[in-house]
Amino acid sequence: MTQTTPYPSSSNAASARFLHTHPTYAGTAVLDDLRAGEYARLDATGQVYLDYTGGGLYAERQLREHLDLLSHNVYGNPHSHNPTSQAMTCLVDQARAYVLEFFNAPPGEYVAIFTQNASGALKLVGEAYPFGPGDHYLLTFDNHNSVNGIREFARQRGAQFTYLPVVGPELRIDPVSLDEYLGLAVPGAHNLFAFPAQSNFSGVQHPLEMIALAHARGWDVLVDAAAFAPTNRLDLARWLPDFVPLSFYKMFGYPTGMGCLLVCGRDNHHLLGAGGRPLSGAGRGGLRGRYGQLPQHPGRGNRPAPPGLDRAGHHPRAGDVPDGLAD
Ligand SMILES: Cc1ncc(COP(=O)(O)O)c(C=O)c1O
Repeated sequence: MTQTTPYPSSSNAASARFLHTHPTYAGTAVLDDLRAGEYARLDATGQVYLDYTGGGLYAERQLREHLDLLSHNVYGNPHSHNPTSQAMTCLVDQARAYVLEFFNAPPGEYVAIFTQNASGALKLVGEAYPFGPGDHYLLTFDNHNSVNGIREFARQRGAQFTYLPVVGPELRIDPVSLDEYLGLAVPGAHNLFAFPAQSNFSGVQHPLEMIALAHARGWDVLVDAAAFAPTNRLDLARWLPDFVPLSFYKMFGYPTGMGCLLVCGRDNHHLLGAGGRPLSGAGRGGLRGRYGQLPQHPGRGNRPAPPGLDRAGHHPRAGDVPDGLAD
């Protein structure tokens, strides 16, 4: 075993005794090496970092590779035609393709829209989802505040919303209640069901089987993967959620700054315009222009184009959330 942490001699003796009685613990030496090589700043600053909701820390190697990339290339703003801009556009396209590959998106079925964070991705859904009178927003009680915020967009446009309770002591969803609440979908209306793959409130990982159950009952499904994705792999080809907000900075270990919205299916893609803003009229360029012919949602009916969406979606009112769930 490689002993990388300098222990005082009494600790060394205790460590040797411990290893003698628990020999498999030697296998964790790789973690000591990782800590010493990639996260030395923890010991240098005398810190212990514990994160309950899945946000990690950046490794030294990430910083080196990022610095290397910026030091050896000339990048410009990606929205132009000059070589530096084109180089950046190419890099963004590569990153987008890799994101879809990482989450095993069926080819051509999903688009990835980069945002500042998961809350930005959720706000896009709130602004763009074609809620109107007669439509329904169903959400579990243990959602993040930003998922609760979509409720305000629904309410402003005359849609109903309903909270699906979680049941103590484990704060999970009762399957009988789930069945009952999924029955609230209004046939032919826009019904959106939102739940966290892992709740930041309770840590519970809800069964992803709920996606297919909800689809079968007429719901579009938003799976909030912000807390789930840093330590679990979400397989889009298997689960086929309609909307997936993500926090890349939690996966990469940065303090903030980058997220993503994954959107499935032609009927959802054309809800969003260029840059992920809502279209002011169906059929404008937007994502369709940028990504060419967009696919139909696999295995589901293609809805008619959504009516023109207003851009009046104000930011959800802070404080108007179930008690105790604010971030
Ligand atoms: C489950 C969940 N959803 C959404 C968010 C919001 O993420 P962001 O800070 O990237 O906006 C968080 C943040 O902790 C979260 O844990």
